Order: sequence, then C-alpha cells, then structure tokens
Amino acid sequence: MIGAPPPYATLLAFTRYVGRTGPSKATFVSGLRRQRESGSGFNPHGSLVKALKADIQFRTEGAHLTAVIDVVRPRWRPLYEALVPGAISYLKSLGDPAKVGLAQTHDALGVLGGLSLKVNPHLGLRYDDGNAEAVRLHFDPEPPSDEAVVATLHLMSRHMRQMLPRATPVLVDVRRGTVHRPDPAIRSGDVERWLAGEAAAFAAMWARPRRQPAKYAREVMTSVAHPARVRTFHPRRGRMTGRHADALTRLWPVYGVPIPESPTTRLDPAALFGRRAPLVLEIGSGMGEATVAMAAADPGRDYLAVDVHTPGIANLLAVVEERGLTNVRVGLGDAVELLRHMLPAASLDAVHAFFPDPWPKSRHHKRRLIQPAHVALLRSRLVPGGALRCATDWAEYAEAMLETLRADPELVNEHDGFAPRLADRPLTKFEQRGVEAGREIFDLAFRRRH
Ligand SMILES: C[S@@+](CC[C@H](N)C(=O)[O-])C[C@H]1O[C@@H](n2cnc3c(N)ncnc32)[C@H](O)[C@@H]1O
Repeated sequence: MIGAPPPYATLLAFTRYVGRTGPSKATFVSGLRRQRESGSGFNPHGSLVKALKADIQFRTEGAHLTAVIDVVRPRWRPLYEALVPGAISYLKSLGDPAKVGLAQTHDALGVLGGLSLKVNPHLGLRYDDGNAEAVRLHFDPEPPSDEAVVATLHLMSRHMRQMLPRATPVLVDVRRGTVHRPDPAIRSGDVERWLAGEAAAFAAMWARPRRQPAKYAREVMTSVAHPARVRTFHPRRGRMTGRHADALTRLWPVYGVPIPESPTTRLDPAALFGRRAPLVLEIGSGMGEATVAMAAADPGRDYLAVDVHTPGIANLLAVVEERGLTNVRVGLGDAVELLRHMLPAASLDAVHAFFPDPWPKSRHHKRRLIQPAHVALLRSRLVPGGALRCATDWAEYAEAMLETLRADPELVNEHDGFAPRLADRPLTKFEQRGVEAGREIFDLAFRRRH
C-alpha cells in the first residue's frame, strides 16, 4: 500500500506481540498499523504514573496514588481501584522514602530487524547509594508472559545509555506489586537474535504487500543461527526461488516457529495452534511432502514440521497455504534444540524422523539423529504410548537405529524387527531417489512404554 507508515512499535506493543503465537500475531500487527495510520491510541494509565512519581518525589507514601482514584473519570475508576493497591505496595518496597528519588529519563528510538522501536521507561529512580533503575510498569490484568519480561528487560538494557546511563532495567507488575529484574543466566546474544527474528517478522507483517521478499527471506535465515556444536545436519543454504521467498515473507509470520540457537522460551502448542490436540513433531521435514500428506489425512492432530533448510521450509509454507491446512506449523532451526529447550516432557503424541541424514562415514556417526542421547531426549518428550516412527534407505544406519531404539528401556518395538512400510507415509522425492538407486527402504515403529 503506497503511503503506508514505516513499521513502528512501542516497547509495550512489541512485547505484547512477542508474547503472542501463530496467526494472532498478524492480526495484532495489522491492528497496530491501523492505529498508527489513524493516529488513535490513548493511554489510560497516565494519571497513575504521575501519582506514583509524585509520591516518590514528595515522599508522600501513597497519598497521591490513593487520591487519584477519585480524580480520574468515572469510567476509569474500576481500573484505578485495581491498580492502586499494587502500586502502593511497590512504592513501599522501595524502602526509606528519604533514600530514593526520581531520576530524569529519556525515550530511546532503536532499530531491530527493520522495525523502529520506541523504548521508554515510565520513570527513573536514583538511590542514595548511587544505584539507578529505569522502571517500566505493566498494567495488564494478567501477569507479563515470560517472553514479555525477557524482551522488555533486554530492550531496555540495549538502550539504557540513551534512557538513563548505568541504570538497571526493572519491570514492575503493578497489579501484583511484584518486580522483575534481569536474569543473569539468560544470554543477551541469544535474546538479541530471537528478538531480531521477531522484529523482522513484525516488519514484514506490517508492510503488506511486501516489496522485498528476498531481503526478508535472508533476514529470517540469518535470524536462526546454527549451533557450533555437533549438528545432525549439513550446513547448506540452498537456492531460494522467487516463489519460495514470497512464501517465506507472507507465511512465515503466520505459520513460522523460530528456533533460536539456544532457546530460552517454551513453546505453548495450544496457543500456537489455537486449540488443544495431540501434537506430532516431524524432524527434518525436507520439502514437506510427508508433512502435508499426513497432516491433511489426520486433521485431529497438529503437526509441527522442523528443518534447517530454508527453501524446504518455504516450500512447505506455500503448500500449507495452497491446501488450506490449519493443523501445520513450521519450525526453522535445530530440532534437537527445540526438543531440549522448547518442548516440555510428555508433550508429543508422535515423533517422525523420515530419512534423517545417514552420515555414512564412521567419524560422522556422532552426527546421527538416532543415537542414544537423542533417543532418550525424544522419548522423554513423548506421552506414554506415544509413537516414534523412522525410515531410512541406508541399510547400515537402519541396523544401527534398530539396535539403538531397542536398547532404550522405555521404548517398545511394535514389530519384531523392522516395521512394514507405514501405510500413511507418502513416497518423497528423496525416498524415490533411494529406490531408483537400488536401495532398500527400512521403516521402524516404536512406542514409549505406558
Ligand atoms: C535426507 S533429508 C530428508 C527429508 C525428508 N524427510 C524426506 O524424506 O524427503 C534430511 C533432512 O533433515 C534435516 N535435518 C537434519 N538434522 C536436523 C535437525 N537437527 N533439525 C532439523 N532438521 C534437521 C536436513 O536439513 C534435511 O532436510
């Protein structure tokens, strides 16, 4: 659309967006854009912030906060009645009023993944020991999501020099009077990469129709950094056609699940799919042929297909749209990291690993997906009775898989040895090539014990 405003978000809007998943992200962004275009948007909390600042400045121990309830318009009164008690308990938590005062802060304007971001504290504090804090207030009825806490504190730290030099960022959940501070265990580089991916997706959703799909596709690719540890995949980029770049640009924000190098947030499948249904994880979905065929034939379950191969992911996104599938989401990144950090125990109804890279050389066996440590991880994420289904055209890997899976005490083989070809598994181009090269195909079907 000509004349569309450039992508822009306030810290509040961006952290709310980050806490959302799936298609509701796009709806949220288009609402923000409309708001920006019409110049609307009203902050109902202004009087509360002023009263809190007055109580700090004049050491009045909550008198201004108590009084503000009667001053605001009647329609805002219930909101203020809900907010003021928590605000007073936060004020008390600051300790001796003589030892803390207000510090002047400035708003910062940052750029992240193509998105302009206004980062502004609600107030600044300076204690008499010289320490300073830049404070954001969270007013919503629900506590802030873990994502929102991490994102808010990270972005405030990122721009602290402009806002209040050397201050610590703090997020106060006003209704509950609780305070969130940065967690030293969270690595800032990981959060930065995660948020850059989120911001790039935000900017793409904002800028419909997208003018530079290939550029955006590159952004999505670079937002997923590949781990330097032992990986089960080949570091390949592949060529991105115009169709793929377009699909990635339009559909990644809707169906995409970024998997950062060291994920710090849990996936909420119910929020991702907008329903609670058994979840199937496909590791190494390639061009997505099996995902599409199986998900289409199995609408009662949700499918999360994961690969590191961006053109394959883009192809899958395009086909998911073409076929109108609502039970597929697409993860870009290392499925092992997803399993390790983003999926809770007993969250998967099935895991599919069809034709994982065989890594034929013995010095590369440590890269194989089906190896004892990965199998223990996979199995722990299955519900009791959940299925692990594999296929390969590499005979020596097939034997090794059988041995590894049989050795896991918590897995049961559904057959004596290899399984018959799984009826619902379609023939992919990859499998076809194996067959044409004269290789035998092996299927395996195990279940987690009850
Ligand atoms: C040989 S291809 C098979 C693709 C597909 N399943 C098929 O049958 O056509 C293996 C795929 O697994 C992917 N892969 C390997 N390790 C992975 C991992 N840890 N996370 C996500 N994808 C992975 C590779 O990128 C590759 O696309």
